[in-house]
Amino acid sequence: MLDTPPAVAVRPAAPPVPDAPGLRVRGLRVRYEAAGPWALDGVDLDLPPGRRVAVVGPSGSGKSTLAAVLFRFRDPDAGQVLLDGVDVTTQEPDAVRARVTGMPQDPHVFDSTVRENLRLARPDASDADLWAVLARVRLADAVRAAGGLDAATGAHGARLSGGMRQRLALARALLAGTPQRPSPLLVLDEPTAHLDPGTRDAVLADLLAATADRSLVLVTHDLTGLDRMDDIVVLVRGQVAQRGTHAELHARPGWYRTAYETATRAAIQHSQHRHSDRLTMSGSAGAGQ
Ligand SMILES: Nc1ncnc2c1ncn2[C@@H]1O[C@H](COP(=O)(O)OP(=O)(O)OP(=O)(O)O)[C@@H](O)[C@H]1O
Ligand SMILES: [Mg+2]
Repeated sequence: MLDTPPAVAVRPAAPPVPDAPGLRVRGLRVRYEAAGPWALDGVDLDLPPGRRVAVVGPSGSGKSTLAAVLFRFRDPDAGQVLLDGVDVTTQEPDAVRARVTGMPQDPHVFDSTVRENLRLARPDASDADLWAVLARVRLADAVRAAGGLDAATGAHGARLSGGMRQRLALARALLAGTPQRPSPLLVLDEPTAHLDPGTRDAVLADLLAATADRSLVLVTHDLTGLDRMDDIVVLVRGQVAQRGTHAELHARPGWYRTAYETATRAAIQHSQHRHSDRLTMSGSAGAGQ
């Protein structure tokens, strides 16, 4: 006797889908004024643990707005930001900031000393820890010259140059958390903006080495060295215009390739210019012509 197959069946329960670890941004929209233009207009981003993404794009395209949402300085007007599957708006800002650290584009330096500015990020850091992180951001010599860890920073860091302020903030970002539990996601908004190209490259290399096991969102205007990132997202007018690796984005027409080539040409002209200056100064330029 043949059994008629049942019309419906109860399938065994699917194993629970573990929430995607890391950062997930879905349909993120943000604007600064009701009915104003969208600063972010439907951004999606995935950053599994330990991966690094660069966020680039023209000025005003929404990069710092994205960073502000990740730091939980602003809430999404639409869409979601999930950390290990949990919507950040369901958590206390301080709880989010224990896991997401970094530096905003215009970092605040407190009117205190170098030591106290750094210890904000890790109150139990020893002086040796502080010197180590200062060396990492290439600030140790300048701090030593200014009088050491007790050097006064001045109101809003007025006693420091723009580059020193930036590097102090970067050092603070690298210190955040404890040595055993550094914050898993680091968000850096233009960490190398005030540095000269040589230092910039060295700081980026050190930064990547220092954060090898942490997730990184690197907002930057500087398109050199991005082949070291896992992924690059190009924001244009609040939307993701392109995404891929450096090699992928460089291989196709678009904002990234144009901007990269413009920057590379400028860098070559700059170094040729310096080279010819040197030749002229040494008296050998044009010799024998
Ligand atoms: N506090 C604010 N109030 C009103 N509008 C803002 C504010 N901050 C940013 N905007 C606007 O939101 C848009 C995105 O700005 P955002 O600072 O995120 O861009 P960005 O990509 O970081 O630019 P840049 O490369 O110059 O740092 C711009 O149109 C900007 O004018
Ligand atoms: Mg910005």
